[in-house]
Amino acid sequence: MRALVSLVALSLAWSLVQSTPPRAYSIAHRGASAYAPEHTLEAYRLALEQGADYVEQDLGLTKDGVLVCLHDLSLERTTDVETRFPDRVTVEQVDGKARRRWYVDDFTLAEVKTLDAGSWFDPTFAGARIPTFDEAVGLVKGKAGLFPELKGPGRLRAKGLSLEDAVVAALTRHGLTDATVAGRPAVWLQSFEEQSLRTLATRLPAVPRTFLLGNDEAARRWISSAGLAEMRRFATGVGPALGLLQSQPSLVADAHAASLTVVPYTFRARRGDREAAAALAAAMRKAVEVDRVDALFTDNPDLFPRPRQ
Ligand code: G3P
Ligand code: CA
Repeated sequence: MRALVSLVALSLAWSLVQSTPPRAYSIAHRGASAYAPEHTLEAYRLALEQGADYVEQDLGLTKDGVLVCLHDLSLERTTDVETRFPDRVTVEQVDGKARRRWYVDDFTLAEVKTLDAGSWFDPTFAGARIPTFDEAVGLVKGKAGLFPELKGPGRLRAKGLSLEDAVVAALTRHGLTDATVAGRPAVWLQSFEEQSLRTLATRLPAVPRTFLLGNDEAARRWISSAGLAEMRRFATGVGPALGLLQSQPSLVADAHAASLTVVPYTFRARRGDREAAAALAAAMRKAVEVDRVDALFTDNPDLFPRPRQ
C-alpha cells in the first residue's frame, strides 16, 4: 500500500514538472536602459541590481580591433563625438541627402575612451564612458549571463575586419565558450545577420545563437515552417520584433516545434510613467505565462514578472 502511495505521488510530481514550463529569462536590453544611459557600466550595474538574468551588449570594433559596447555603428547619437572630433566625420550621400557619421571603427580605443556617453541621456550621468566588452565581462560574469549582439558584421567584413574572430577570441580568453551561470548558458549570442551566425555555429557550437528578425517582408519568409527548419541549421533560437510576433501568435509554438527558443524584443516603458510601467509588467507576464516565450528583452528589468509563489 505504502509503495503504491509513493508511486502515485511520484507520477503526480513528474506530471507537474512536465507541465510547468522552464522559467523564462529577462534580458536587460542595452542594460537597464530605461533608467541609465544605454551600454554604460552604470546601466549594466543597475540591471544586475534589478535582478536581470542576462545583460545585453551590442558589439562594435574600434580601429585598433577592440570590442566595444555600442548600439549604433557610429558615435554621434550617444556621445559628444561631434564636438570632440568635428573633423573626423564621414559624409555620405543617402537618398540625395548628406548624412554625417562618426563610425566607431574609425577611432582607436584611446579616443573612444575620451567620449562622454552619459550626458545625452541625463546630465547626472555626465562622464560615463563606452565600455569595452572585456569590462562588461569583468562586471557581469558570474553574476548574470551575457547576451552579446554582433552589430553590422557584414559591413566590417567588407572593411577586412572580422567581428566573429574578435568575439571568438574574447569568449575563449574569458573561458566562456562552454560555461554556465545559475544553471543556464553564461553567454548567448545574437545577430540580424545569417552569415555571422553560420560562422559562429561552427566556431562556437556550444554557445546558443539567436537569429534576430525585424518586422518586415524579409523576416516573414523565415517564420514559415520551412524557414524555421532552415534557421535551425545555424541558430538555436529566433528573436522576433514584438510586431512580428503579434502578427503571427503561433510563432512561439511553431518555433518550439522546430526546437528553436523564442526571445522577442523589446518590452519598454519610459521611466517615471507609472501607467506605462503597469501595462508593461502585465504585457511581460502574458508573454511569459500565456505566450510561453523563453526569454525577452526589456529596458525595465525591475518590472519583469517574478515567478508566482
Ligand atoms: O538584440 C535585440 C534587440 O536589441 C534588437 O534591436 O536595435 O535594439 O539592437 P536593437
Ligand atoms: Ca541588440
